[in-house]
Amino acid sequence: MSTAPVTDSVHVSLGARSYDVRIGSGLTARAGLEIAPLLRRKRVAVVTDENVGALHLEALTAALAAEGIAMTALTLPAGEATKGWPEFTRTVEWLLEQKIERKDIVIAFGGGVIGDLVGFAAAVLRRGVRFVQIPTSLLAQVDSSVGGKTGINAAQGKNLIGAFHQPSLVLADIDLLDTLTPRDFLSGYGEVVKYGLLGDAGFFDWLDGHGPALAGGDRVFRQYAVRRAVEMKADIVARDETEEGDRALLNLGHTFCHALEKATDYSDRLLHGEGVAIGCALAFELSQRLGLCPQEDPSRVRAHLRDMGMKVDLADIPGDLPGAEALLGLMAQDKKVVDGQLRFILSRGIGTSFVASDVPGDVVLGVLQDALKQR
Ligand code: GLY
Repeated sequence: MSTAPVTDSVHVSLGARSYDVRIGSGLTARAGLEIAPLLRRKRVAVVTDENVGALHLEALTAALAAEGIAMTALTLPAGEATKGWPEFTRTVEWLLEQKIERKDIVIAFGGGVIGDLVGFAAAVLRRGVRFVQIPTSLLAQVDSSVGGKTGINAAQGKNLIGAFHQPSLVLADIDLLDTLTPRDFLSGYGEVVKYGLLGDAGFFDWLDGHGPALAGGDRVFRQYAVRRAVEMKADIVARDETEEGDRALLNLGHTFCHALEKATDYSDRLLHGEGVAIGCALAFELSQRLGLCPQEDPSRVRAHLRDMGMKVDLADIPGDLPGAEALLGLMAQDKKVVDGQLRFILSRGIGTSFVASDVPGDVVLGVLQDALKQR
């Protein structure tokens, strides 16, 4: 007797804006069934990118058709360059041409770029229409599809234009992770390990034991890891939807990461999740130097990332990097800087992070100088 795969459901509790994140195998094939209860009329608009479209749009179309849901689709170029005004304008105008109305549903079918751009388009179209996220990358499943941060990049920096607009449903189909390149999968894993490091030492231990099998394709482990990460994110977002406080914990590793991404021109030299992993290792090093966390924690973090075959050190980033002072300067331009003070997520130990806004610049400089010496 074969048993159907179990779908997990995590509720994001935000009053009238509450929704479920469904996590499991075969969710794309069941998308019509999952989405039908949200529809006022049996018609949706789907926005995807060329890579995801080529691999998975046919399956989504068939799943919607099986429930009698008509679908119209727009396929955008793949890549971060899509997340700007030109493709945003194209998307909004296309949705208007498709006569998408206030009560209709738009589907974002792709990774973080598509989810952010389409969510923002949904936020402004006719002053707000509902949307469903079907995230196809690990990074989007555990982070960007949940919590309602939507937006696009500006010439002045990443994610500087946007809105909080919560989806009505998230379908995280873990089967779709099979088509990711190992590098993209591991980059997304940088965000997974972040959750253990910031708030759940037991989850970090679990990842330390099961991470390699999970990366190797074990579906049960993948589903558990996505579910636990989403549970943690849902809990934080329910407490602090618009990042007045605790939501900033999700930025563990990100102050270092954003400076490194800028220093590498947001290029293929460093993917976002890779920068998060390196940034987490540096944040633990900084915490240890400030006497906040146990001596052995930075080595535990680094050893796990190494076991996973991930980038861990600045030496793992190909090409030249600016000096420590220049990197510190890039951090000072981060959009999370408040009143000119460097804000870091620091740690009192694996699983216990907190927001610190008064971190001495000379200690950060020392961490960066030593990290650059190993290159
Ligand atoms: N990616 C961080 C957040 O959603 O707040």
